[in-house]
Amino acid sequence: MKPRFTALKGVADVLPPETGLWRKIENTACLVMGAYGYEEIRPPVMEQTGLFLRSIGGSSDIVAKEMYTFTDKGERSVSLRPEGTASIVRAYVEHNLSSRPAPQKFFYSGPMFRYERPQKGRQRQFYQLGAECFGIADPGVDAEMIIMLMAFLDRLGLKGLSLELNSIGCKECRPAFRERLREFFAPRLGELCPDCQRRYEQNPLRILDCKVERCGEIRKGSPLISETLCQDCREHFTALLEFLDVMGTAYVFNPHMVRGLDYYTRTVFEVKGGACMGAQNAVAAGGRYDLLVSEFGGPETPAIGFAAGMERLAGLLQGEAVTPGPALFIASLGKEAAVEALKLASRLREGGTRVELGWGGFSLKSQLRRADKIGAGNVVIIGEDELKSGSFKWKNLKDGSSGEAGREDIFAQFSQAK
Ligand code: HAM
Repeated sequence: MKPRFTALKGVADVLPPETGLWRKIENTACLVMGAYGYEEIRPPVMEQTGLFLRSIGGSSDIVAKEMYTFTDKGERSVSLRPEGTASIVRAYVEHNLSSRPAPQKFFYSGPMFRYERPQKGRQRQFYQLGAECFGIADPGVDAEMIIMLMAFLDRLGLKGLSLELNSIGCKECRPAFRERLREFFAPRLGELCPDCQRRYEQNPLRILDCKVERCGEIRKGSPLISETLCQDCREHFTALLEFLDVMGTAYVFNPHMVRGLDYYTRTVFEVKGGACMGAQNAVAAGGRYDLLVSEFGGPETPAIGFAAGMERLAGLLQGEAVTPGPALFIASLGKEAAVEALKLASRLREGGTRVELGWGGFSLKSQLRRADKIGAGNVVIIGEDELKSGSFKWKNLKDGSSGEAGREDIFAQFSQAK
């Protein structure tokens, strides 16, 4: 059989039992972030294209090459969101959320869209789970955000992750760094890839992010932003590291990290998942963006956030993807027995017991085979004799115990089974 339609390239179905894993990840995020005072926000998946141009920036790969942009029937340029932060900042300004007491804290999850070359851990439609905190500039908030992210990953049971940090300065000190980079790259400008030649003009920080091997060679020994940070940025970063030290949060200072989005100021961070993930090993990433709210027309509002890739988290937890079988399978023979089975199942399901029924008019033997195949914990058999006597046979398929009991006793026996 050949399917007539298949999903688009880089756009995947998430099927059970993996969806169970996704549910677990989302529930864990709700639990952990709820304890930190984060409330859910659900922005739309499409926005005016200009929103992403202004925030993520024209010099980023995302805007330059990866956006799903189209003109709608009203001749407006619309883009599918490549990330969540821009929309949440737009919502924050549009709904005047700055009038609420600071900090305002939000978490979100949902699909994002980037036209990238698909590979393991990299898709064109992928899901992010993220958090954004508005209104406080204190480096303690940076520490709290990072500690929350690490607590979430820890609660999921993920081990062997490494947290990398850097500060990329502010509008006071970054221009000097840009100039130093231009001076450094100027003699070899012609050797850089065409993208980096464009980046040299627009935003030379992006050259530090280029994946082309030759550009990686050329940038060896390039200036480090840590050498040009202003006093305030330096103090902010030092205070953050002190908080993390006190809290015992392990980190690696990565002076080369600049991140691929233009809106960041000061703190940037990434959590990497080790060699088992291949090239796409960033599980989560984020940073401060103290200028974005005012750039979108809101009051000056410091902010910080992160997003984690759901596919990458699920990939690391893959071995755990199993759907447990039903607690009870009710096999029945004949229409009357089927009605009795349906009534019993409905009562048990109301209380949350997972029950499957042996529909289909199959023999008792084939129903029991199916119960076994789907991993049922117990079976109850209802045939003509059982209907007459009012006493049903049951069997525990895990430990082999069995017995007979009346309708109400059967209900009581399985009403606690999950
Ligand atoms: P980002 O680094 O572009 O940051 O993405 C965050 C995470 O999304 C990555 O670490 C990765 O796990 C996942 N991800 C990104 N692209 C793909 C893809 N094509 N396929 C699968 N997973 C992917 C942001 O998006 C920022 N908005 C994070 C942030 C929030 N900064 C401040 N607040």
